[in-house]
Amino acid sequence: MPPATQRRLPAGPGEVPADHPATPPRASFPVLRGNAGLFSPFTFGRVGGWLEPVPDHVIAVGLIVGARPVGLALGTLLPGRSQCELLSIAVAPAMRRLGLGGRLLDAWQAEASGRGATECRANYNETMPGRGALKALLARAGWTAPRASGLVVIGRVGKMVEEVSVWPGIAGRLAAPRSYAFEPLELTAADVEAVERYLSTPEAADMSGPIRQAEQLADDFSIAIRRDGRLVGWLLATETRRPLVETNTEVPAIRYLEAYLDPAYRHAGIMVGAYYHCYSRQVARLGRESVAVYYTSHDSRPRMVALTLRRFASLAERVETIFSASARLPATFRQQLAGECRAHPAHQRGAGPRGVAELEI
Ligand SMILES: CC(C)(COP(=O)(O)OP(=O)(O)OC[C@H]1O[C@@H](n2cnc3c(N)ncnc32)[C@H](O)[C@@H]1OP(=O)(O)O)[C@@H](O)C(=O)NCCC(=O)NCCS
Repeated sequence: MPPATQRRLPAGPGEVPADHPATPPRASFPVLRGNAGLFSPFTFGRVGGWLEPVPDHVIAVGLIVGARPVGLALGTLLPGRSQCELLSIAVAPAMRRLGLGGRLLDAWQAEASGRGATECRANYNETMPGRGALKALLARAGWTAPRASGLVVIGRVGKMVEEVSVWPGIAGRLAAPRSYAFEPLELTAADVEAVERYLSTPEAADMSGPIRQAEQLADDFSIAIRRDGRLVGWLLATETRRPLVETNTEVPAIRYLEAYLDPAYRHAGIMVGAYYHCYSRQVARLGRESVAVYYTSHDSRPRMVALTLRRFASLAERVETIFSASARLPATFRQQLAGECRAHPAHQRGAGPRGVAELEI
C-alpha cells in the first residue's frame, strides 16, 4: 500500500478510488514463469488457468507494488509466429491512473519482442466494460486506432439447430452428407501432414489448427472434416466459462475457436453442416439452452462474415463487433526493462501474500 504521507487525488467518476496515491509507487514488472497463480485475479477466468504453471507460448508479466501482486499483462506468442496477442491487461483499481498500466504494457511488449515477436495485436468486444481505458492506454502507447475486425455470434444451440435444419438448400445435405464425414479429432500421420500443409497456405495464415492450438480443446465438440476418409478441414471448440450472455453466466457454453475447410470444397454447405453437427451434439450433451459462441474475421473470412450477418444473426442471441488494435515492436524493446523483467520466486503461488484485490472487468 502507498505510504500514508502521500497526497491523495480526488475520486474520479467511478474510475479512480478516493485513496488514490498522487505519485507513482515503486513497482516491478517480473516476467512470470512456473506457478504464478497469485496473479490469476488480474485476468479473465478462461485464461487464468494458464498461470499454473505458465505454458511456453504464454507471455505473462506481473505488476508488483510493495511485495503485492497488483496487476498482470497476459498474452500469447505461438511457436514460429512473429505476431503476439495481448489477451488481457489489468491493474488493481486503487493503483490505476498512475502510469503503471503503461509501464506494464511496455514490459509485456519488451518481453514479447525479446522472444521474437515483431508485432502485437489486441482484440476486444464493443461492450467490454474496460474498453475505454484499454483503448486510451493502447493509443497512448502508440498502437493503431482500433478498427472493426470481426464478429462474435452468441446463440442458443437448440434454436440454431432447429432453424438451420430447415434452411432451403441445406436441409437435404445435412440429412445426407454423401462423401463427407464429421469425426472425432483423432489424427493419423497423414492427417497431421494435411494440417501442416493447410496451415502453410495464406488462407490459414491466422490459424493454429488442431496441432498447435493454445486452448484446451473440448473433445466432444472438436471434429475432423473428412471427404472420402481424407482430412479436408476441422472445427475446433473449447469450453468457456464466459459465455457473454448476461442473463445466466452459469449456462454451459462452448466457444468455437477455428473452422477451416479446403477451399476446393467450399460453397457446398459443408461448414454449415459441421457447425450443425457440433451444435446437435451440444443439444444432446449440454441441453438446448446451452450456448455456442463463435468468432469470424472481416480480414480473413469476409464471406463468412457476410453469411453470418445474412443467415445466423437473426437466430443468435447476440452479435458483437470485435475491434482490433496493433503495434509494431521495434528491436529497441528488447533492451528495455532488462533489469526489471526477471522472474522472481516470490511471485509464485505459495511464496507471496494472498488476498489480492478482485479484478473489476
Ligand atoms: C486499462 C488499465 C490496465 C490501465 O491501467 P492504468 O494503470 O490506469 O494505466 P496508466 O495509468 O498507465 O494510463 C496510461 C494512459 O492510458 C489512458 N487511460 C488509462 N485509463 C484511462 C481511463 N479510465 N480513461 C481514459 N484514459 C485512460 C490515459 O491516456 C493514461 O495516461 P494519463 O493518465 O497520463 O492520461 C486499467 O484501467 C485496468 O486495469 N482496467 C480494468 C481492466 C481492463 O478493463 N482491462 C482491459 C481489458 S483486458
